[in-house]
Amino acid sequence: MVLLNWTKISGGAKSALLLSTLFRIASATTLETSQQIFQDTHIQTTPSTCLSKSSTIVDLVDCLDIFTVPPGFYTPESYDLAQPTPEELKGWNRTILNLLDLDVRQGPLNNARVGGWAYNITDECTPVLLDASLKANFDVTTFTDRSTQRPFCVLYEHTIYTSQSSYVRGWGLFAVPLDSDPIFLLGYDYTITQPSSQAIHISAPHPQFDRGTPQQAAAVFGSPKVGAKSLLIAGRIRMAFKEKTGCIPSPKGMNYTKTDPAHDDAQPFFTASLSLYEWQMAQGGCPPSTCAFIQFHGKGPSTCPTDTMFLSTGLGMSSFRRNSSSWYTDSIDRPIKRLQQNLKQVFPDWNATLPSDSTCSLVAANNIVGRFTNGIKPERVCREASNATLATGQFIHIEQAPVARAAEVHEKWIEAIAATFA
Ligand SMILES: *[C@@H]1O[C@H](CO)[C@@H](O)[C@H](O)[C@H]1NC(C)=O
Ligand SMILES: *[C@@H]1O[C@H](CO)[C@@H](O)[C@H](O)[C@H]1NC(C)=O
Ligand SMILES: *[C@@H]1O[C@H](CO)[C@@H](O)[C@H](O)[C@H]1NC(C)=O
Ligand SMILES: *[C@@H]1O[C@H](CO)[C@@H](O)[C@H](O)[C@H]1NC(C)=O
Ligand SMILES: *[C@@H]1O[C@H](CO)[C@@H](O)[C@H](O)[C@H]1NC(C)=O
Ligand SMILES: *[C@@H]1O[C@H](CO)[C@@H](O)[C@H](O)[C@H]1NC(C)=O
Repeated sequence: MVLLNWTKISGGAKSALLLSTLFRIASATTLETSQQIFQDTHIQTTPSTCLSKSSTIVDLVDCLDIFTVPPGFYTPESYDLAQPTPEELKGWNRTILNLLDLDVRQGPLNNARVGGWAYNITDECTPVLLDASLKANFDVTTFTDRSTQRPFCVLYEHTIYTSQSSYVRGWGLFAVPLDSDPIFLLGYDYTITQPSSQAIHISAPHPQFDRGTPQQAAAVFGSPKVGAKSLLIAGRIRMAFKEKTGCIPSPKGMNYTKTDPAHDDAQPFFTASLSLYEWQMAQGGCPPSTCAFIQFHGKGPSTCPTDTMFLSTGLGMSSFRRNSSSWYTDSIDRPIKRLQQNLKQVFPDWNATLPSDSTCSLVAANNIVGRFTNGIKPERVCREASNATLATGQFIHIEQAPVARAAEVHEKWIEAIAATFA
């Protein structure tokens, strides 16, 4: 491995920034002359202004969080309109794959300097990566975190209903880092001086409901210490459409709703989870030392009150009990076991538990991303649970008390997750 010095000279991004600045000036002028719109306080922030005014990736996710489709927003008709058409869903998948391919794509090298030679690398985060079918609602753009100077490529929805400050489509947010993959050059492998990207995929399926989890996910994703590969955040609160999902049967007394991406397979969040899993497998798989699919969740303080952080891989209790605690306690090295130990270290006053040392029932056995990651085919995730034989250990579901997902402890999480992966 040879380390290259790496300087970003991003002419394309600069002219895009200039264009979008001009556009913003133009729109601001329009707003000031339009009394009616200007009086609406929500209009002062739009998803695009979040991109320009946020200084860190956490600020950005926090700013965009307000456009999460709110509770009870959808009727059957408006939900159907917001859902992707088959063509759009393909475009969503293609765009996500395009973003994941940034930096790993082989080709002429750009912006790289080796012994005074300049090369072209196809790592520009440009609107070209956005599938044409999504252009009416989505954008792909570079966002640089000013605290770390790390550039990211972000896929986000730019369209909102200003009166309700809600996304029009609500499919979610996806981001990848731009700085951190090994590159192949002139027959040699080089690693850019930024920390090498791990195959860690971070997600938050329950924005606003599991408060703080999108921001926490963004903090972990954005940290150069972790070097995560992707960030996925849902765009709808889980009860945006209160109707019962036809996917996972609802427990007594509550609905798993149609807009809950952990339990409904028609959510674009679920498709995105499939896309990035398939992409990861195409890179040679998901080795336990460097790779995992991590979902951040939040629980109320009275649910499993002594489990400050409860980690599980999505195995059901029955399968787990039948197999005594072997999956979580055997000698096989699994990222979830390392993460538990690291969490215990950084949070010595709190409890970081696994199903093998807690009776907490939030084991995520109904989580469809967990089921899929643990070997169930996408078309069967609504009906079939995984089991200890199938479980890959690549899925890490994290339930947390409110204190554990507060901004004050983001750094501790970064420490624990960075220490978990090689
Ligand atoms: C890099 O790409 C740009 C635009 O595609 C081109 O103008 C330039 O000549 C290329 N540089 C090298 C060193 O190939
Ligand atoms: C649960 O779903 C059913 C069927 O879709 C619906 O009629 C009902 O209103 C929902 N219940 C709640 C509490 O939202
Ligand atoms: C995404 O597109 C690729 C390439 O066409 C395809 O192989 C894959 O099955 C698609 N994945 C999803 C989740 O749609
Ligand atoms: C940790 O677990 C123990 C045993 O269940 C309990 O007594 C203690 O209160 C818990 N600590 C926290 C911070 O919840
Ligand atoms: C686990 O699930 C697979 C697929 O449904 C099944 O073939 C296998 O028998 C199951 N194993 C156990 C131990 O239940
Ligand atoms: C229990 O786990 C062992 C080893 O992980 C596996 O071989 C066995 O099939 C599992 N049994 C069940 C019932 O899941």
